[in-house]
Amino acid sequence: MGFDITGGLRWHGRAFTRRKKYWQSTIAAIADWLAQTRPTHKHLLLIGGSAGWMMSSAWLQQFERIDLYDLDPLAGLLFRFNHGRALRLAGCMLVCHRRDAIHDLEQVLSQHPDASIFFDNVLGQLRFRTDDEELAEKELQKFYRRLQGRDWGSIHDLFSGPINETAQSALACESFQGLQVPEGLSLEGQTGAAAQTKLLRAVSASGNWMDHFTSEVFPQGLALRLIAWRFSPHYCHWLQAGWVSQ
Ligand SMILES: C[S@@+](CC[C@H](N)C(=O)[O-])C[C@H]1O[C@@H](n2cnc3c(N)ncnc32)[C@H](O)[C@@H]1O
Repeated sequence: MGFDITGGLRWHGRAFTRRKKYWQSTIAAIADWLAQTRPTHKHLLLIGGSAGWMMSSAWLQQFERIDLYDLDPLAGLLFRFNHGRALRLAGCMLVCHRRDAIHDLEQVLSQHPDASIFFDNVLGQLRFRTDDEELAEKELQKFYRRLQGRDWGSIHDLFSGPINETAQSALACESFQGLQVPEGLSLEGQTGAAAQTKLLRAVSASGNWMDHFTSEVFPQGLALRLIAWRFSPHYCHWLQAGWVSQ
C-alpha cells in the first residue's frame, strides 16, 4: 500500500503530459458540473485533491479557505503550482495536510465542522489501496452515511476499461445526467445493467471493464453527472459526480 498507487510521481507525470492532449474536454465537463454546485460553506475540505490537475481554479476561488488532504507529499507543492496564483487573487487561504483522510474521516470532519467537503477523484481508488476487495466494497457501500448532516460532493471512477478508439472519438467527452436509484444508476429511463450498457456503448468499450465499487456512494434520489474520461487513447473511465447539499 502506498500513495504512489493512485497518486505520486506516476500520476503527476501522466497528468502533466496528457491533460492538454487528451483530457481537455473532460476537465471542461468537470468545471461545468462544479460551476452548478452550490456549496454551503466558504471553507472547503478537498480530499484527494492531489495537484488539482483536473480541478477548476474558478470553482476554488469561491472559498475563503481550503484544506487540502492527500497522502502524496508532493500534492501541496504542485497544487500551489497549478492553483496558487488564482487562490491568491481571490484571497483564499490554502492549508495542505499529508494524511489518510478516508481512514481518519470522522476526526477530520470534527476538526472542521463548518466546511463543505469534496472528494476529488479519490473514492474510486480505494480498491487499489487494499488487498481486500470485499473490504473496499463494504467501505464504499452507503458511504454517504459517514457524511450525515454535512454538505459534500464527490467525483469518482464508477468503472473503467479498454475502448476501441478512433481518431474522431479521441477528443470527445460524452456526458449524461443520471439519478441514484435503488438499482444503482438511472440514465434516461434505463436502470442497473441497461444503464451501464448505455455508458459502455457510448465510449465503444471493449474487453473487460473494472468496477470501482462506487455505485452506492451517494444517497437515493441524488442527481448525478456521468462524465467520460479518456485516460489514454485505449483506456477510458466513467466518472460519476454528485453533490449532497445541506
Ligand atoms: C487520481 S488522484 C486525484 C487527482 C486530482 N483530482 C487531480 O485533479 O489531480 C487520487 C489522489 O488521492 C490521493 N489519495 C488516495 N487515497 C487517499 C486517502 N485515503 N487520503 C488522502 N488522499 C488519498 C492520492 O494520493 C492521489 O493524489
